[in-house]
Amino acid sequence: MITDEILRKKKERNAVILAHNYQVSPVQDIADIVGDSLELSRAAARTAADVIIFCGVDFMAETSAILSPEKKVVLPAGEASCPMAHMITAEQVRDARDLYPEADVVCYVNSTAEVKAESDICCTSANAIKVVNSLDKKQVLFVPDRNLASYVARFTDKKIIPWEGYCYVHNRYTPEQVMAAKKLHPKAEVLVHPECRPEVIDMADYVYSTSGMGKHAKGSEADEFIIGTETGMLYRLRKENPRKKFYPLSEDAICQNMKKTDLTKVLNALETLKIRITVPEDIAVRARKAIEKMLQVV
Ligand code: 13P
Ligand code: SF4
Repeated sequence: MITDEILRKKKERNAVILAHNYQVSPVQDIADIVGDSLELSRAAARTAADVIIFCGVDFMAETSAILSPEKKVVLPAGEASCPMAHMITAEQVRDARDLYPEADVVCYVNSTAEVKAESDICCTSANAIKVVNSLDKKQVLFVPDRNLASYVARFTDKKIIPWEGYCYVHNRYTPEQVMAAKKLHPKAEVLVHPECRPEVIDMADYVYSTSGMGKHAKGSEADEFIIGTETGMLYRLRKENPRKKFYPLSEDAICQNMKKTDLTKVLNALETLKIRITVPEDIAVRARKAIEKMLQVV
């Protein structure tokens, strides 16, 4: 069986398999750690493995490579990329800094290594509010996700200047979809990701990172949940809470890039160590500062 081969090769390589919550179910099942961006960056920072097989998208593997330059970080689906992470360039960050010299620059982890290198601090969806409130300056240039920026703005006195990026998966949800889902499942709690549009967030009961949703679902008295994030998350929620019911806010909420990894590619990655993700040291040094600063805040 392919899973046996993966486990054998993983041992031989002294590798660890990290998988994001949106990965397809067989990949989640084979992974050593399944988590959100924050949990996976922490895992990458502290692993004793020689090889990190990162089942996710480009910016996540890059973050691991930045935090663990001595390890081999491999992205099994080398073409798996987060479109939002490419909605701002390092040059655009520098230009925006010139426009707003009084602002700290906070970059969402869904960004390139070059953009992280130009930023004062990084954040994930799990810690964005704490990160922003930890800063001294009164203005924050928040890149690249405008929806996460506007969510954070609800919980801070700082002036948030958003970049106009967005996630095509979460930005597609509409208030009408929330209304329809609530009508179908009136007892369900509505959990949405902060990458959703403000009018969708307004209608939710709770707003969480993907793993935040997992913790909430376990602890909640409710038996039913409407889930406003990529549908891969439902596999984990159902697996961990077999007696509870989870409904996707939309069946169409699929991140094509997160679905590019499968078991054959994981095995191939272990065998060939391709596609290896590296970040040039001059960029990594500066990006690491922004990520480590975040890890110190939370
Ligand atoms: P999380 O960090 O909440 O898992 O989010 C990552 C992501 O890409 C959401 O679209
Ligand atoms: Fe990027 Fe959206 Fe996919 Fe997350 S769900 S990886 S933000 S495109």
